Amino acid sequence: MLIAAAVGVLGVVTAVIVPTMPAGAAASTLGAAAAQSGRYFGAAISAGKLGDSQYTTIAGREFNMVTAENEMKIDATEPNRGQFSFTNGDRIYNWAVQNGKRVRGHTLAWHSQQPGWMQSLSGSSLRQAMIDHINGVMAHYKGKIYAWDVVNEAYADSGGGRRDSNLQRTGNDWIEVAFRTARAADPAAKLCYNDYNIDNWTWAKTQAVYTMVRDFKQRGVPIDCVGLQSHFNSGSPYNSNYRTTISSFAALGVDVQITELDIQGASAQTYAAVTNDCLAVARCAGITVWGVRDQDSWRSGDTPLLFSGGNKKPAYDAVLNALNAASPGGPDPTPTPTPTPTPTPTPIPDGCAATITTTNSWQGGFQSTVTVQAGGAAISAWTVRWTWPGGQSISSLWNGQQSVSGSSVTVRNAAYNGSIAAGGSTTFGFTANGTAATPTATCTSP
Ligand code: XIL
Repeated sequence: MLIAAAVGVLGVVTAVIVPTMPAGAAASTLGAAAAQSGRYFGAAISAGKLGDSQYTTIAGREFNMVTAENEMKIDATEPNRGQFSFTNGDRIYNWAVQNGKRVRGHTLAWHSQQPGWMQSLSGSSLRQAMIDHINGVMAHYKGKIYAWDVVNEAYADSGGGRRDSNLQRTGNDWIEVAFRTARAADPAAKLCYNDYNIDNWTWAKTQAVYTMVRDFKQRGVPIDCVGLQSHFNSGSPYNSNYRTTISSFAALGVDVQITELDIQGASAQTYAAVTNDCLAVARCAGITVWGVRDQDSWRSGDTPLLFSGGNKKPAYDAVLNALNAASPGGPDPTPTPTPTPTPTPTPIPDGCAATITTTNSWQGGFQSTVTVQAGGAAISAWTVRWTWPGGQSISSLWNGQQSVSGSSVTVRNAAYNGSIAAGGSTTFGFTANGTAATPTATCTSP
């Protein structure tokens, strides 16, 4: 009787409370929690572990996206030239689909994990082998893959240039050739550029990839997404400007996917920060962790994942709670970012011109990109000035040096971007507090 009464009372209370709670507040797995905001939560899966029931129990329950950790790489899928092998790739694909998960394809063109025959090729025969490989693998999985990492790790760790590799030595256009080939091979797959150490917005490698993606979008090279591997450790730590990186790529008109997340030590706070940064940007489509349990990690000594044996770690709860706290019914309260415009073709008689564009905005703040364009002559330095209309204030600025006096803002070029060729352009950016504004900016060059 008492229990029945209690249940009755709770039943009434529950009936009142549940509809007022955020949708899906009770999601109990990572995949279901991410799905509440239209995102996915995935893991790298290894074919050799599909016989481990602890592994498949966790992976089957928690994730709704799968990446083959090694089984769809070049050496695995084309061990001899022209002879494709999908045995292990298919084991992973089939396990994923039979368990209701989607699959990311990883990866088609990469300097690493090439089969011996490809390592020894160069020039036009390597270029042709790359094209044939993309066509062969994508044909096998045509229409079945959510997104392909078409090109992996093509940029150098420092200096902002390309990584030297046999593929790079076939010509600088190898990346766009790979993307054009991939689009034709499977128009249904999203095509991603994937790399590590492009998480910190201030790093030259991040800026170099950003510039490539912007160039691809401007020239119509087919690219749909950028994969931030996000292997965080003491040498490459999480930085709070990660959200700026995600929103800046998104503002170019591509999705951002966090593709290989692991964090040395698995700080719950850092895992929550990464999750919240993705949730803050509408075009951050989802997160994949690079393995299931710490023992499965390629860096197992770093204990960087969300499970230890069969147990959920504190980082797991932090991620789940962050996903469950996401606003209901949509990815994000942020309006769709306005793409950075192609610099205006109108000739500028002399000096330079500057245009401010809002790329993202949220309650109480916004992010802008400022395009600085040289006129008919090359310039070696520039200064951009504007006045805030309504009390806005810059919270963080990159690729320039700011000085502020009341509502007047002056931004001079950074040490590395003062020189702009005739008709060329560069950009700097900032985040600011206040209501999004696009005041008219003046540009002068000495
Ligand atoms: C790693 C795998 O986890 C290892 O099992 C393998 O020995 C080497 O490759 N960036 C990538 C992934 O894009 O493919 C790499 O995976 C980790 C770094």
